[in-house]
Amino acid sequence: MQIIRITGKNKLNGEVCVNGSKNAALPVLAATILCEKPCVLKNIPHISDVSNMQSLLKSTGQYSLLSNHQYQCEMASEISHFASYDLANRLRASFLVAGPLVARTGYARVAYPGGCQIGERPVDLHLKGFSKLGISVAIQNGYVELKANKLKGNRIYLDFPSVGATENLMMAATLAHGTTMLENAAAEPEIVDLANFLNQMGADISGAGTDTIVIQGVSSLTGGEYEVIPDRIEAGTYMIAAAATGGKVKVSGVLPEHLNPLVAKLRETGTHITVGEREILVEGKSGYKAVDIKTMPHPGFPTDLQAQFCAMLAGAKGTSIITETIFENRFLHLPELKRLGAKITVEGRTAVIEGTNKLNGAQVRASDLRAAASLVIAGLMAEGTTTVEDNGYLLRGYSQLCENLKKLGAEIEVL
Ligand code: UD1
Repeated sequence: MQIIRITGKNKLNGEVCVNGSKNAALPVLAATILCEKPCVLKNIPHISDVSNMQSLLKSTGQYSLLSNHQYQCEMASEISHFASYDLANRLRASFLVAGPLVARTGYARVAYPGGCQIGERPVDLHLKGFSKLGISVAIQNGYVELKANKLKGNRIYLDFPSVGATENLMMAATLAHGTTMLENAAAEPEIVDLANFLNQMGADISGAGTDTIVIQGVSSLTGGEYEVIPDRIEAGTYMIAAAATGGKVKVSGVLPEHLNPLVAKLRETGTHITVGEREILVEGKSGYKAVDIKTMPHPGFPTDLQAQFCAMLAGAKGTSIITETIFENRFLHLPELKRLGAKITVEGRTAVIEGTNKLNGAQVRASDLRAAASLVIAGLMAEGTTTVEDNGYLLRGYSQLCENLKKLGAEIEVL
C-alpha cells in the first residue's frame, strides 16, 4: 500500500512540464499490432498502465523496448491471439487489443474486462460494432472470442460516443475491405491522435475529431516513428492544484486547445489564466468562487478532471453543483473529501458542494486513479497533515506526481 503524506497550506510555485498522454499512448500501443514493420513511439509516459500494456503486447508476440519515453517494437511473424485474464485484468484499456488482433489475424480471444470502482464499464458497443464489421462474437468462460474470414466495412452508429469503442472499431476497420462510417463517434483529442498514428502508418481515415469518422480499409500498415500528444489530464491536475492552493504555476509542454473546458471553468472561479502557444500560466486567487460543472463527452468538461475539480471547489466561496454524466459511480472521492471537512451532499449523479475555508488534514483512502489525485489536491489545501492511502493508483497514470508537486513547493512525501 503506497501512502502519501502531505502537510497542506503551501502555495505551489514554479514550472512543471507534462508527460505524454496515458489515454493516447495506450490505444497507439495496441495499434502497433496492426503494423508489419517496426515502430518507434515517442513521448510515452513511464506509468504502470503502459508497462502493463507492454506485457500484454509481449504475450501476443511483440518484441519491445521502453526507455527514455521511447517505445520501440516489432510484431513477431507468429502472432498469439490470446490475451489472458491475468494480463488483461491489470488495465481496462487491455480490451483495445481485440480490434487490432482480429483485424490482423482473423481471430482473437481476449479476457472480458471486468467492472471497476467507477462503474460497470461494459463493452457492448465494441461488440455490436465488431458484429457490423462481419466479425462473429462469442463470450465464453469470461473470454470474448472474435472470428472473421474477412472484415467488411459498414455503417456503424454508436449509441453513445464511447472513447474505447470508437478506438477499437477504428483500428479494426483500418484493415477491413471497403469503407466504414462510424457515426456518433467520440471526438476526444486521443481519438485524433490514434487516427494520425494510423494514417502515418498507411491507413486512410478522415473525420477524426468530429462525430463521423470515415475509414477506407487498406490491405496492410507499415511502421515508422510517431510522437503521442501531451497528457491533458495530467496538465489539468497541476492547473487545478495551482489554483486551489492560490499558487502561480506555469504548466508547459501542453496543447492548450485540449484544455479549453478547464480553462473556461477555472476563469469562472476567478483564477487568472494566461494561455501561451505550448504553456498555460495559472495564478490562483484566495476567495475564489464556486462554479457548477457537468461532465460531458469532448469538447465538454472531462470526467477525468471532475474529482480533482471537486477538491478545489470544496474550498470555494459559495455553493457548486457537480453533475457526472459519463460514469454511474464516479463520486467515491466525495466521502473521503468529507473526512477533511468538506461540506458535500450527493443525490444520484449530482453533488452539491458548499465551499469552506476550514479543511483539516485527515487519513483518507483512494478508490481509483483520479480520486487519488483529488485527495492529494485536498491535502495540499488543508490545514495540517493528510495521509492518502493510494494503493498504487497514482502510478497507473501519473509519472512523478508527488516529486513534481514537491518541486513546486508542496510538503509531500511518499512513504
Ligand atoms: C476512456 C478513458 C477514461 C475516460 C473515459 C471517458 C482510456 C484508456 N480511458 O475510457 O480515462 O474516463 O474514456 O472519457 O482512454 N460504455 C458502454 N458500453 C461500451 C463502452 C462504454 O455502456 O461498450 C459506457 C461506459 O460504461 C461509460 C461511458 O460509456 O459509462 C463512457 O465510456 P468510454 O468512453 O468507453 O470510456 P473508456 O474508453 O473505457
